[in-house]
Amino acid sequence: MRSRQIHSFYECVVSRYNGGVLFRIRQFEKADFDTLWRIDQACFDPQLAYSRPELAFYMRRLGSFTLVADADEAPGNGGAPSAISGRNISGFIVAETRRKSGHIITIDVVAEARRAGVGSALLRAAEDQLLRAGAVTVALETPVNNDAAIRFYKQKGYFVEKTVPGYYSGQLDALLMAKDLARPAVG
Ligand SMILES: CC(C)(COP(=O)(O)OP(=O)(O)OC[C@H]1O[C@@H](n2cnc3c(N)ncnc32)[C@H](O)[C@@H]1OP(=O)(O)O)[C@@H](O)C(=O)NCCC(=O)NCCS
Repeated sequence: MRSRQIHSFYECVVSRYNGGVLFRIRQFEKADFDTLWRIDQACFDPQLAYSRPELAFYMRRLGSFTLVADADEAPGNGGAPSAISGRNISGFIVAETRRKSGHIITIDVVAEARRAGVGSALLRAAEDQLLRAGAVTVALETPVNNDAAIRFYKQKGYFVEKTVPGYYSGQLDALLMAKDLARPAVG
């Protein structure tokens, strides 16, 4: 699982969560990096969380892009303060294209914003960008014990291709999950 992106276009998916707070999906900006790293630290066990250099490496890899769910930038929204940092970022996704296949590197939503559609909006925006880049399938790895993520991805039309023994530091197995982007999304 789990580029610095120049604003080639502006994502404008606006959604609602927690009784009316709005957020906008936008491209990553350099100033977001520290916040994203802190969110990743909070989302994952130390065994799985990225170091700063690891996160920077994946975000800068050729063909990769990062999208951010930003509560500050939504129209008419005062912004729900993040417990993790001053920036009102509810979550982010890092993805990459490898010719005709896309790869989700990570998706992280802050705990207080979960089950409110932020992950869905991030994944949908990333899949759209992958499609525009020519991807026809998308794949990802997730720990076999990450029930929330597995349910989330299944709900989004991903299916389990195989188990990869010891994928995480030789200690934890991963499920390799994939989706055909040509097929209409379930939700
Ligand atoms: C997985 C994750 C990204 C989901 O983000 P989210 O914003 O909570 O997802 P959504 O609100 O868009 O959920 C969409 C659907 O996915 C399913 N889902 C999401 N979280 C779930 C959970 N904890 N249990 C069961 N189903 C879940 C549900 O069907 C949900 O729809 P519903 O709320 O109407 O029932 C989020 O839980 C997260 O960041 N977890 C920690 C980091 C992580 O594990 N990332 C995945 C790495 S591989």
